[in-house]
Amino acid sequence: MKRTSEKKLHKELAMKNEFICVASHELKTPLTALMLQVEMAKKFMDAHGIEAISPKKMQTLINRTHQDVLRLSRLVDDMMDISRIHSGKFSMNYEFFNLEDYMEELKNRITSDKIRWTVNAPILVKWDRFRIEQVIVNLISNAERHAKNSDIDINVGIGGAHVYISVQDYGPGISPEIHEKIFERFKRGEEKNSEGFGIGLYICNEIVKHHMGKISIESHPGVGANFMLQIPISTTLQ
Ligand SMILES: Nc1ncnc2c1ncn2[C@@H]1O[C@H](COP(=O)(O)OP(=O)(O)OP(=O)(O)O)[C@@H](O)[C@H]1O
Ligand SMILES: [Mg+2]
Repeated sequence: MKRTSEKKLHKELAMKNEFICVASHELKTPLTALMLQVEMAKKFMDAHGIEAISPKKMQTLINRTHQDVLRLSRLVDDMMDISRIHSGKFSMNYEFFNLEDYMEELKNRITSDKIRWTVNAPILVKWDRFRIEQVIVNLISNAERHAKNSDIDINVGIGGAHVYISVQDYGPGISPEIHEKIFERFKRGEEKNSEGFGIGLYICNEIVKHHMGKISIESHPGVGANFMLQIPISTTLQ
């Protein structure tokens, strides 16, 4: 009995150590970029005075710094989610809301002329709306990042006791051999230059699982990727 709990403790410690290791490594990358940028600007300013920085240069510097800060902040949020998932404290706040109205509101907030929305969901759902939004936004940003310049089709509909949401792009697609792997923590696909951390889909999957739903992929190299969510209308009715 004692041995089993000791083994469990060891396993948990090893998992925590691995998490801290990977997390600090992932944080280091955008932090280094940010540091280099600020250091270069400081050196230039010290040598030539602040007047020597043109407004255009200043704008570029601020824009880049802003991007890096956003990236870091998103990464920290994701890390916190992963840590909550690990410790079993990743809890949802389920509430009733009208899905059609909510989608309309989301559509107005995500302004992109590449996205075509088809929503047919006049129904009350009982979900954690912020977490489901996190999933949809993640799938959209994956399509924007990994299928650059592609159109994106978002379909929301009802079938029986479930809502079906799909986010489809027409980019490079994903080979079937890695469909399962990309849902694992810190696992990225085959492309070399992606700036992602490989966390997004892992968190999406956890959120959808908490809603008793599932995510599936339909994708082959060269024909785009379709991520499909199937979520019970009311999570607590399961
Ligand atoms: N729409 C897509 N088209 C092609 N490949 C995709 C698409 N969505 C995800 N992938 C592949 O799945 C991998 C895992 O996706 P995931 O969202 O977990 O991580 P990421 O986008 O690399 O980083 P982040 O943690 O910032 O989201 C990606 O690295 C990419 O290779
Ligand atoms: Mg992603």
